[in-house]
Amino acid sequence: MTKMPTTTTVVEYDAAGDASVLTVRTRPLPPPGPGEVTVEVMTAGLNHIDSFIRAGTESGWADEPWPRASGSDFAGIVVAVGAGVSRFGKGAEVIGHVREGAQATFVTVPAGALATKPRGITWEQAGGLYLAGATALSTLDELRIGPGDVLVVSAAAGGVGSIEAQIARHLGAKVIGTCGDRNFDYLRQLGITPVRYGEGIAKRIRDAAGAPVTAMIDNFGQDGADLADELGVSPSRYRSSADRRDTELRLLQGDPPSIAQGTQLLERLVALAERRAFTLLVSGFYAFDDVAEAYDDLARLHSRGKIILGMRPVTRVRTLRARDVFEAAK
Ligand SMILES: NC(=O)c1ccc[n+]([C@@H]2O[C@H](COP(=O)([O-])OP(=O)(O)OC[C@H]3O[C@@H](n4cnc5c(N)ncnc54)[C@H](OP(=O)(O)O)[C@@H]3O)[C@@H](O)[C@H]2O)c1
Repeated sequence: MTKMPTTTTVVEYDAAGDASVLTVRTRPLPPPGPGEVTVEVMTAGLNHIDSFIRAGTESGWADEPWPRASGSDFAGIVVAVGAGVSRFGKGAEVIGHVREGAQATFVTVPAGALATKPRGITWEQAGGLYLAGATALSTLDELRIGPGDVLVVSAAAGGVGSIEAQIARHLGAKVIGTCGDRNFDYLRQLGITPVRYGEGIAKRIRDAAGAPVTAMIDNFGQDGADLADELGVSPSRYRSSADRRDTELRLLQGDPPSIAQGTQLLERLVALAERRAFTLLVSGFYAFDDVAEAYDDLARLHSRGKIILGMRPVTRVRTLRARDVFEAAK
C-alpha cells in the first residue's frame, strides 16, 4: 500500500505560452479535507484545450492565480480519504478529472470527481479517457445518434474523433471518418469507413456513404459548416469544433454541477470501454518529465488516439514510432 506522502510533483507554468513554459516542481501535499480523496496518479492525459488555456486565450481562466497547473484527466490509486468519504477506500483504482492540475504525482479532488477503474482498462487508456471521452459522449447525446444515422466524423483517428466514431458504431450508426491515408487501416478495423480529407471530400463522402448523410461532427475545424451544408446535413444535426470547445470548457468549470455531470459521463464511458464498445488507442506514452515534448507531439496534429503521460514509466527511452517514420518519408 502506498503511504500518504507530504509532497507532490506538479506540472506548472508562470506565464502564458507554448509548451516550453511548462515546468515540473515539488509542492507540499496537505491531507485531503472533508469529502476529498488523494490519489497517487499513474497516468494523465493531454488535450488540446490544455494548450489553449495555457496560451491565455480562454477568458474563463483570466482570473486564475499564478502559477497555474496543467491537465484535467488522470487515473491512479487512492492513498488517503478525507472525513465523510465512504465510496472509495485506500488502494481503490480510480479514473478522475479536475479543472486543472491532473499532471502531478498526487492529486486531491472531491470524491465526486472519481469513478472506479475496472481492471480490464489499462492504466494508459484510463489516464486519457476523461475529457476526450466525455466530450465525445455528450456530442453524440446532443445529436441523438442511433441506428439509421449516417454520421461523418472529422479527424476520426484523433483523440475525440476515434471515441465518437466507435461509440456511434456501437449505437448502430454507419460512420464515415475523415483522416489521412495512413489511418485508413486503423479506421477500417474499427468498422468505420475512412475518407481522405482535402479537395473533393464531399464527393468522396457521398460515394462512401451510399445513403444521405444525417449528421456530422467537425473536430478539426476547417470548413466544417460548408461541408455539412453541401452534404445536406440539417444545422441541428451538425456540431462544429467551436461547439466542441464549448463542451470541453463547460466540463472544466470545476463547480459542483459540472463535476457531477462530468463524472456521470465518465461512468458511462467506463461502462462502454469495459464492454469494448470502444477501445482507446494510446499512440504516445511519455515520461512525466517529458511533458513539453508530449504537448509538442500533440500540436503536430497527427496523433492517433491519445497521448498520455506516465508517472512511473519503466524507461524514458522511446523507440521510433511508425508515424514518425511515415512523416519523415513524406
Ligand atoms: N475549435 C476548438 O476550439 C477546438 C477544440 C478542441 C480541439 N480542436 C482541434 O480539433 C482537432 C482534433 O482534436 P483531437 O483532440 O481529436 O486531436 P488529435 O488527437 O490531435 O487529432 C489529430 C487527428 O487529426 C487528423 N487531421 C490532421 N489534419 C486533418 C485535416 N486537415 N482534416 C481532418 N483531420 C485531420 C489527424 O489524422 P491524420 O494523421 O490521418 O492526418 C489525426 O488523427 C485538433 O486540430 C484540435 O486543435 C479544436
